[in-house]
Amino acid sequence: MTRQISIEGIAKRYPAPGGGETTIFENLWLRVDRGEFVCVIGHSGCGKTTVLNILAGLDQPSEGCVIVDEKEIAGPSLDRAVIFQGHALLPWKTVLGNVAYAVSSRWRRASRAEVEERARRAIATVGLAGSEDKKPSELSGGMKQRVGIARALAIEPKILLMDEPFSALDALTRGTLQEEARRICRETGQTVYMITHDVDEAIYLADRIVLMTNGPMAKIAEIVVNPLPADRRQGEIHHDPNYYALRNHLLDFLVSRSVSFRDDPPAGYDPRNPPIVRLDGGEASRSPAAAIRAA
Ligand SMILES: Nc1ncnc2c1ncn2[C@@H]1O[C@H](COP(=O)(O)OP(=O)(O)OP(=O)(O)O)[C@@H](O)[C@H]1O
Ligand SMILES: [Mg+2]
Repeated sequence: MTRQISIEGIAKRYPAPGGGETTIFENLWLRVDRGEFVCVIGHSGCGKTTVLNILAGLDQPSEGCVIVDEKEIAGPSLDRAVIFQGHALLPWKTVLGNVAYAVSSRWRRASRAEVEERARRAIATVGLAGSEDKKPSELSGGMKQRVGIARALAIEPKILLMDEPFSALDALTRGTLQEEARRICRETGQTVYMITHDVDEAIYLADRIVLMTNGPMAKIAEIVVNPLPADRRQGEIHHDPNYYALRNHLLDFLVSRSVSFRDDPPAGYDPRNPPIVRLDGGEASRSPAAAIRAA
C-alpha cells in the first residue's frame, strides 16, 4: 500500500471574541493509503469540516501541512473532489448542466457528446435519470445532495472528500447510494475521506474509522480498524460476530470518551501516532481498554 495523504501536524486557530485565540485543533497527524476508505466520526464543532476543507485546499492550516502524492497541497485540484455538507450547486444550471460543467472542467478536450454521456451516466447512478433538465430550486434537499454526489463521481477524482454526503437522504436512497459509493470506490481504487455522524454508515463503508474528540483542542483519539470482511453486504453487517463490539466501541466513544479523552488522554498518547484499535474477536473485542493496550 502506498501512502496518498499525509496530514502533518496541522492546527487551526481563530481569533477569540474576547482577544487571544481559540485552537480548534492542533498537532493533528493522519496518514491515508491509496485506495483506502476512511470515515471520520466526532461531535459537531470539533473541526471535521475544517480538516476536510484543508485537504481540499479550500482552507489553510494555521500550522503544519498536508502532503498528497508526495507534494504539499497548495489550493484546490480536480484530483480531489469534494461533496459538501451543503449542496453547493450552481443554481442557474440544470442538473445535467451542473454535472456536465464539472466533467468538462476535468476533460477539457472531450466533445460535448462525451461530456454529456458521462454526466448522464453519473446522474443515472444516483437515481436521478429523468431529472436532467430540472434546476436545483426544483429539487428536494436529498435530490440536490444526489446531484452533488453525481458531480463528484463523474470526474473520477483520485481522492474523494465527502462531508456527510448521505445525511439528507431517506433511508432507502441512502442505502442504495452507500452501496454505489462503496462499489465505485472499490472498483476504481479511489481514496475516500468521509465525515459521518452515522455509526452504521461508518461500519459499512470504512476500512478505518478515525475518532475525533470534542473541541476546542480536538484530537484524533484513535483509529479503529474495521474487522468486518471486505465483501460485507449492507443489510447483513449486524450478523457479523464483530459488529456489536465495533458499534458499542464507537458509541461509547461518542457518549463519553470523546470528552474524557480530550481532557485526560491516556498515558503515552502520541498525537503523531494515535492508537490503532483492533476489535476482531477474543479478549480485545470485550474491552476497549484492552484493545487499545493490545494495539
Ligand atoms: N471563520 C471562523 N471563525 C471562528 N470560528 C470558526 C470559523 N469557522 C469555523 N469555526 C469554528 O471551528 C470549529 C470547527 O468547525 P467545523 O465546521 O470544522 O466543525 P464540524 O466538526 O464539521 O462540525 P459539524 O459536525 O457540525 O459539521 C467550530 O467550533 C466552529 O465554530
Ligand atoms: Mg461539518
